[in-house]
Amino acid sequence: MKSMSYAAVAASVALAAALSAASPAAHAEATGLALAQQKNCMSCHAVSRPIMGPALHDVAARYAGRDDAVTYLKRKILEGGTGAWGTVPMPANTQLTPDQAASLAAWVMTLK
Ligand code: HEC
Repeated sequence: MKSMSYAAVAASVALAAALSAASPAAHAEATGLALAQQKNCMSCHAVSRPIMGPALHDVAARYAGRDDAVTYLKRKILEGGTGAWGTVPMPANTQLTPDQAASLAAWVMTLK
């Protein structure tokens, strides 16, 4: 009986440690995705395959070496445009505040 309750305590300590180690990144990921879904991005984008627009992990991979990637993408997300991935334009996303566009740009860059 005594050894069983020790095992239970040890298991819950290990679980708590695992959860607190995993949660900051998981939280940022979940918030970025939730915002992208709420703002309609995911009707044209998916993380891992192209739909109307490029797969977002391909975007992250393409700009991984650019210091100004988040600034560039923030502006592109707000203003829309064409020519980076093909001839289909992304419309301006006027439903976003600049801060939301910056959060989405930062989230996209975590997806590589
Ligand atoms: C109507 C469809 C559509 C919607 C809605 C849309 N996109 Fe796009 N997106 C595109 C297309 C098409 C491209 C490719 C543009 C190009 O080739 O320059 C693109 C490109 C991008 C890129 C890469 C830009 C570059 O220059 O490489 C990012 C990042 C992006 N979209 C994020 C978003 C986010 C975040 C949202 C939501 C706020 C969003 N998109 C909403 C169609 C869409």
